[in-house]
Amino acid sequence: MKISLAESSPLSQPDFTYGVATAAFQIEGAADSRRPCIWDTFCAMPDKIKDSSDGLVACDHFNRWQQDLALIGSLEVDAYRFSISWPRVMTQSGELDPQGVAFYIQLLDALNQKNIKPYVTLYHWDLPQHLEDKGGWLNRETAYHFRDYVDLISQAFGDRVFSYSTLNEPFCSAYLGYELGIHAPGLKSKAYGKQAAHHLLLAHGLGMQVLAKNSPNTLNGIVLNVSPCYPKTDSEKDKDAAWAADQNLNHWYAMPVLEGRYPESINTLPNEELPPIKEGDMGIICQPLDYIGLNYYTREVYEGVGNNDRHKWVDESLPFTEMGWEVYPQGLTDILLQLNKQYTLPPVYITENGAAMADTYADGQVQDTDRIEYFQGHLQAVSDAAEQGVDIRGYFAWSLMDNFEWAEGYEKRFGIVYVDYETQQRTIKASGLAYRDFISSRHLAKSA
Ligand code: FCB
Repeated sequence: MKISLAESSPLSQPDFTYGVATAAFQIEGAADSRRPCIWDTFCAMPDKIKDSSDGLVACDHFNRWQQDLALIGSLEVDAYRFSISWPRVMTQSGELDPQGVAFYIQLLDALNQKNIKPYVTLYHWDLPQHLEDKGGWLNRETAYHFRDYVDLISQAFGDRVFSYSTLNEPFCSAYLGYELGIHAPGLKSKAYGKQAAHHLLLAHGLGMQVLAKNSPNTLNGIVLNVSPCYPKTDSEKDKDAAWAADQNLNHWYAMPVLEGRYPESINTLPNEELPPIKEGDMGIICQPLDYIGLNYYTREVYEGVGNNDRHKWVDESLPFTEMGWEVYPQGLTDILLQLNKQYTLPPVYITENGAAMADTYADGQVQDTDRIEYFQGHLQAVSDAAEQGVDIRGYFAWSLMDNFEWAEGYEKRFGIVYVDYETQQRTIKASGLAYRDFISSRHLAKSA
């Protein structure tokens, strides 16, 4: 099975960027050569991670990075999106850790040598534990620590980076980590959720200011997770439920960064849940963006159940991934069109899209046709949005390889490369080969 798009598609053009993505905590391992982060602490608590695993070894990428880079090269991608482990590059007293920095510099140099553009995420959820000990994202000071880290690391990297994103999915950090407590640090309070979100947004704004000064030639932006929120029926209560979910998930982050204000639903919050906004904050949060990264996995459908409460509804007739997420490519076109209509968007990159499937490794192969279908459907969905006027510049498959899927541990496999965690052997899945062939057919067109 192949992945293909019409030659006339904006996604078939030679300057459209294709990449693969990872994040430090999910692949690096080598925890003994960095300071602990909130995910180390969370993994050590009972019953937080489905398979009771942790990130101590993960894909051992820290030690196998050269082999992994060769793998990335063999996939013929234009770009590699990965994150910097804050606790690896910064000491507790706020200085750069030369060894940690050297690791990323070698990686950046090797990527540049291979002509693979480095897309660097500065924060993909692994907050240094010593900052969590002082309140983590509930503490406004953490935003300023982030700024200082961005300042030092961007100077150290010099001109090696192609693109920076300040944060990956602040919604997940705040909502899953501080409101639902199912991600690190595992706190549970609605007020905490909004407080953490505000400080994350502030960190983004402060980080963007530093990047504009230290790294004006890179593409600087932020990565948000988005899902269109549909009402189950046309009833007012379902429509209200979908509206509230949309405000909370999509606009709570998009509106501050793009327009410097929180969405209207802020007026429905009780006083104790209001974000701790200080004078000038919204202006700091709303910095010019060179691009916005959007991560998409699935849609959400809501039913209103009274008391301003809502339930998620799922359509049992759709295919599901192993995460229990509906496969719904149309949702990606829809959310791109919705956001493009509502906001003046900077250029858009799809910075994550992919699926955990029930892979089986047999005879040195993984025949993950379902994942190929997922990519085909979603690339077509991105192409449809681009044809309808959304300025989309790139697409990154999540993920380069199977890795530590947060609270799900290692059981959910998102890779286009299979990882045998016993031997650390990597095997390109059929989806990886299909993605490679799709990308290289474009390269052939480019040179023809
Ligand atoms: C996103 C995360 C990423 C990965 C995928 C499946 O929310 O950014 O690290 O876990 O989900």
